[in-house]
Amino acid sequence: MRIATVLVAAGKGERTGGSLPKQFQALGGEPVLRQALRPFVAHPLIEAIQIVFDPAFNAEYRSAIRGLGSKLLAPVAGGVTRQQSVRAGLEALSQDAPEVVLVHDAARPFVSPNLLDRTLEAVRESGAAIPAVPLSDTVKRIDADGRITETLDRASLRAVQTPQAFAFAPLLAAHRRAAEANRHDFTDDAALLEWAGSPVATFEGDPANLKLTTTEDFSRAHALMATSLGDVRTGTGFDVHTFGPGDFVMLGGVKVPHTKSLVGHSDADVLLHAITDAILGALAEGDIGRHFPPSDPQWRGASSDRFLAHAAALVAARGGRIAHLDATILCEEPRITPHADAIRAKIAAIVEIDTSRVSVKATTTEKLGFLGRGEGIAAMSTATVRLPWSAT
Ligand code: CTP
Ligand code: MG
Repeated sequence: MRIATVLVAAGKGERTGGSLPKQFQALGGEPVLRQALRPFVAHPLIEAIQIVFDPAFNAEYRSAIRGLGSKLLAPVAGGVTRQQSVRAGLEALSQDAPEVVLVHDAARPFVSPNLLDRTLEAVRESGAAIPAVPLSDTVKRIDADGRITETLDRASLRAVQTPQAFAFAPLLAAHRRAAEANRHDFTDDAALLEWAGSPVATFEGDPANLKLTTTEDFSRAHALMATSLGDVRTGTGFDVHTFGPGDFVMLGGVKVPHTKSLVGHSDADVLLHAITDAILGALAEGDIGRHFPPSDPQWRGASSDRFLAHAAALVAARGGRIAHLDATILCEEPRITPHADAIRAKIAAIVEIDTSRVSVKATTTEKLGFLGRGEGIAAMSTATVRLPWSAT
């Protein structure tokens, strides 16, 4: 089953206000759009993501998707209404049509890996399914003066969310028919299918899958971020490599000129190895040797970026974030400080976090021991990882 996602991010966010549409505003240090995107990028069964945006915000869009990579198709421009924006995304996907499409609002940054799994299971069963949550408040119908005219039966009511998932071809056909019938204002795709007379199933949504509409929603979202990613883990990593002949050392993915090189099975990037182990440690997922056995010839000479990116992907797959990385390089030579900022930027790019969340320091060992004698370089690291609360 080929699965794609349409992520609609072309709205103006008028009810939220502010100088930028809500999907480009920051929440917990990252644009809302980036957070909405992450779970779809991380999900192994989702092949392609079609973002629909307003080209007037191209710079904000570029910065929000930086490093999120290969699944993202070239974005297309949205329309005046959400429905028209979804249609634009579906038409773009129809060039190489998937079997199933998930339609998601960029204004919902709290999709869990679990909700995505449920979404895919539901669409596999029914061909059209949307997440729904029971209402806890009693719901009334009122007249123009605010007087109650009816109390609705709460048991038969649901609040619905995105991602909504559909067999691709019938959804696109229904969108085309709606546009032909001059209907452009369905606020979700389930309503459009309802109009078209196609059945839509519901599955259990997630009360934490908040939609950002007003500034109060942003306040709630900030509080939710703090608690939902509140399972804070720390890991440590340590590594040593010996000097051998050569004219540079790889440190944090940066080539630092030197009179020797480091010897190792991969590129001997002692710093990236220590940081990778720190992240694996925070996840209690063993060490780098377990994930990339030195006995396996495919890792000979491998660029250590891949090891670190793998550890970062494991965090993302658990719906978590790397909050901070700190590292110390121990050697007499070469001098690290002139390269520290380049190294920080490189590490930040590999794990896709802001450079302000990466710290690289260096020290000598006052000529003591094997490091003091200049026999090699050691690195130690601490990783702080935030995970969603889970059952264990
Ligand atoms: N959306 C879109 N194109 C539109 C309108 C909305 O892509 N013409 C997207 C929004 O970016 C959002 C989602 O549809 O991710 C849900 O819409 P809504 O919450 O109404 O967002 P806005 O229209 O941006 O906000 P507002 O209605 O307050 O202006
Ligand atoms: Mg709107």
